[in-house]
Amino acid sequence: MTFTNPDTVTATLDYFTPPADGSKPYNYITWTPSMGVPRANWEKVPHEVQVENLRGGKEDSVSLDTTGFTYGRGAAAHTTFENDEIVEKEYYPESIELVKKITGASRVVPFDHTIRRRRPEETEDTPQKRQPVPLVHIDQTPKSAHARVERHLPAEDVPKLLAGRFQIINLWRPIGRPAYDWPLALCDWRSVDRKGDLVASTLRYPDRDGETFGVKYNPNHKWKYLRGMTPEEFVLIKCFDTKDDGTTATFTPHTAFQDPTTPKDAPLRESIELRLLVFYD
Ligand code: OGA
Ligand code: FE
Repeated sequence: MTFTNPDTVTATLDYFTPPADGSKPYNYITWTPSMGVPRANWEKVPHEVQVENLRGGKEDSVSLDTTGFTYGRGAAAHTTFENDEIVEKEYYPESIELVKKITGASRVVPFDHTIRRRRPEETEDTPQKRQPVPLVHIDQTPKSAHARVERHLPAEDVPKLLAGRFQIINLWRPIGRPAYDWPLALCDWRSVDRKGDLVASTLRYPDRDGETFGVKYNPNHKWKYLRGMTPEEFVLIKCFDTKDDGTTATFTPHTAFQDPTTPKDAPLRESIELRLLVFYD
């Protein structure tokens, strides 16, 4: 592989455009034509942006509370991700400790994980076989973040937990090989216009509704990535924070993107993201 390390790359990101008729955006997680409704009522729109590569000295220019995300170093002890049960038994506990150490949180509760493997010959993304996500989004809205607490924690603990600071953070890392292929771009929270750019969108699961934010294009967005992240590196992505004082980052838009500088022989991206509820005393 050729080892170039560009400062900035030009890339096309798929942004969200809400339905023109003003109806609430939705999409189905599992969908078949026989359902007789469109799978989604919104569209993607590509925009060319500059993505700054933080590799080579700028890794520490970001943090959970300023930009909304932070990079870290350290391989996981658990390195095979074929079996969900084993991932839960082995990768979840070490990740709880890692996130506690970095954030100082008093309680950390993982609630799901997604393993992604890029398969260029398959266009379908099914719940069983997930690919990188080429769409600028935020995983939760304040409403769905609170619903996650109600859903995953004992009812008697909820009032006390919600009285303190609470966040949702994703722990994302490459599996098995460096992720030169379709890396993850993250958007500096300070460059986002919360009122103008975010659109709550319903995710229709077979048994319930979730809610995410689609993100509309804004030329002010400042995009960052860490080129060729390895399995010994990770990124924490803040999706939600109850500390909302105007200067603390409360979310991070993100998307997978095709990096025009990816070496031709780079292996296809594989990654795991673990979603965690993070509480502070
Ligand atoms: C995430 C996410 C997309 C990807 O970790 O929340 O949206 O392509 N990941 O890894
Ligand atoms: Fe996401």
